[in-house]
Amino acid sequence: MNTILSSTISFVKETLANAEAGHDWFHIERVYKSAIEINKTEKGNGLVVQLAALLHDIADSKFNNGDEEIGPNKASDFLKSINVDVETINHVKLIIQNMSFKNSFDSVSFNSKELQIVQDADRLDAIGAIGIARAFTYGGFKNRVLYDPEIKPVTEHSKESYKNTSAPTINHFYEKLLLLKDMMNTETGKALALGRHEFMETFLDQFYAEWEGKR
Ligand code: ADP
Ligand code: NI
Repeated sequence: MNTILSSTISFVKETLANAEAGHDWFHIERVYKSAIEINKTEKGNGLVVQLAALLHDIADSKFNNGDEEIGPNKASDFLKSINVDVETINHVKLIIQNMSFKNSFDSVSFNSKELQIVQDADRLDAIGAIGIARAFTYGGFKNRVLYDPEIKPVTEHSKESYKNTSAPTINHFYEKLLLLKDMMNTETGKALALGRHEFMETFLDQFYAEWEGKR
């Protein structure tokens, strides 16, 4: 393997050694693999796709007092330290700055095929069986209830739903996870999202049936 990639993998593994389970090295590894898979058909710049996938969650603003610049800066400082060319560094930095779900509420300032591929790979990891597991892990980390029939989800993709920090984890499916299949950028990503989406629908059907003591 290319030494740029192997150094980046070591850096990311070390940096995320104590990350919570939804945003740990294994999340990065899954996104990295999905991004490579999507790129086989979408054919973006392979180095940019792989570096952006590896570095996209190097410092999540949620765990850094909302500072959105720590992650992109940390990624670009690292890439400079291993002498990656300026054009690649700038592209990777722009992808990290612009690909988060939260940023999709703001006007998009940068887009590229490589951003679309890595964003699709990241979104795929938020849906399906893994997405379900990650949502409940995150909910547990925040001490949220699984479900509360009295607390209705905000079904729109809104900034308000994001700020509601006490909503049951099931609500997150309606506020984000079930919306992702229609937000995929690439044809390859869309095709992969369909099966994962159906799996979540099946999960929710079963969940409500069990909640009522049925099935
Ligand atoms: P982004 O990639 O835009 O930073 P997040 O960090 O919000 O997105 O999401 C990362 C993971 O954490 C996803 O799997 C997501 O489903 C989960 N997550 C985020 N917010 C919640 C929530 N309110 N309840 C349950 N899971 C959540
Ligand atoms: Ni991610």
